[in-house]
Amino acid sequence: KHKVIIDTDPGIDDAMAIAYAIAHPDIELLALTTIFGNVRTHEATRNALALLDHWGCDADVAEGEAAPLTIPGNEPSYLVHGRNGFGEVDIPASSRSKHALDAADYIIEASKRYPGEITLCAVGPLTNLARLLERDPEVATRLKAVIVMGGAVHKKGNVTPVAEANIWNDPHAADLVFAASWPLVLAPLDCTMPVVFTPDFMQALAKENPALGTPLAAMAEFYARFYRSHLGLAGCVPHDVMALSWLTVPGAFRLQKGALCVVTDGASIGQTLFQPGGTASRARCFDGRPNHMVMVDTDPQMFLADYMMVMT
Ligand code: BDR
Ligand code: CA
Repeated sequence: KHKVIIDTDPGIDDAMAIAYAIAHPDIELLALTTIFGNVRTHEATRNALALLDHWGCDADVAEGEAAPLTIPGNEPSYLVHGRNGFGEVDIPASSRSKHALDAADYIIEASKRYPGEITLCAVGPLTNLARLLERDPEVATRLKAVIVMGGAVHKKGNVTPVAEANIWNDPHAADLVFAASWPLVLAPLDCTMPVVFTPDFMQALAKENPALGTPLAAMAEFYARFYRSHLGLAGCVPHDVMALSWLTVPGAFRLQKGALCVVTDGASIGQTLFQPGGTASRARCFDGRPNHMVMVDTDPQMFLADYMMVMT
């Protein structure tokens, strides 16, 4: 089984990813660590606890950073994910408490308990991961893999013409995370945007597995309004689960290897720059950077078939 910690800002597509992790027989969900982004950090903690309780999962919830490393925090994405983060779908509050350790310390502690075994899937802004590297640089050697949903490498951004939301919300943290030598896989918009959860798909999911599918289908209805009005899509894009699918259905993705860096000021702030390996670059930002793997394309049918199979 893959031992997984998800760093998350739930969030509708975050909820779709968390449900998949709970349902997957090959994933052992150790914890959710929380971060601002779609909602504020304390709301992300509340939502993480509520989802786990609702779906009968006793994984830990450790709360993360409340603000970006350097820039002032942006307003949460209430417009896209609803004021409660779940498209106004009510998930009852949990009576459980968050873990005594904060997110970074929790991950450090877990990496010592299971050295070389933990996959960290980050599906929100990367502030907790930057904090983790700052507190214990050796943590990079104790994690099995770090998979990040964020950025746009050959395609355009979703908050600005060049920036994707998770990177844009803390570009300095993302740049530190990409500069670190750890086994990192990036799932940018390039691999998430080809996939659409249509209303028919969500209804089929709700019919086959009402416990997981009914709340997700209701959330997807709200989420799809944004995709319809902004992009003309007939459904919504389940970005975050792609970070988990890399573990469980790697054949659905095409990868490229190369160095990554992030623009941290000016008009292009939050842009992810990708230099495929083996090609010379005159951009100094790549000097000394390790190569990472980048998921640049997806087979939507293979992805969708796997999601439906695991969830039902
Ligand atoms: C990412 O931003 C958030 O709004 C989503 O949850 C996802 O993690 C997509 O750009
Ligand atoms: Ca997210």
